[in-house]
Amino acid sequence: MKLIIAYIQPEKLNEVKQELLKEGIMKMSVTNSLGCGQQGGYKESYRGVETEVNLLQKMRIEIAINDEFVDKTTNAIIRGAKTGNIGDGKIFVLDLVNCIRIRTGENGSDAIG
Ligand SMILES: Nc1ncnc2c1ncn2[C@@H]1O[C@H](COP(=O)(O)OP(=O)(O)OP(=O)(O)O)[C@@H](O)[C@H]1O
Ligand SMILES: [Mg+2]
Repeated sequence: MKLIIAYIQPEKLNEVKQELLKEGIMKMSVTNSLGCGQQGGYKESYRGVETEVNLLQKMRIEIAINDEFVDKTTNAIIRGAKTGNIGDGKIFVLDLVNCIRIRTGENGSDAIG
């Protein structure tokens, strides 16, 4: 099992969701996030008040999946989020130790799917 954590531009969330849906991936968690990458947030257009630490608004998407879905999932995120410009985002793939569905007590792959 893997946990995919992706940071994307907020305006790309809908496109990413559509691309994930095309691959049958519907279970996800999405939160607002502040962050910066290798430009330190300083070369992207920024529509807010300048702050000393220039953290930009991103969306954080978390998707827990069985191993065979990793490529499908990351490719769908890339298709939805990529413009070719700096700040398009980043995807982290983590090993996931367990998943438990609280209602049934199912564990691991059974609980994720
Ligand atoms: N090493 C990192 N650790 C944690 N979060 C990161 C890291 N790199 C990027 N992020 C998160 O991903 C978001 C998007 O990063 P971004 O796309 O700007 O990456 P980048 O490495 O600067 O690539 P690019 O040069 O294409 O802009 C950041 O705002 C931040 O939230
Ligand atoms: Mg960047």
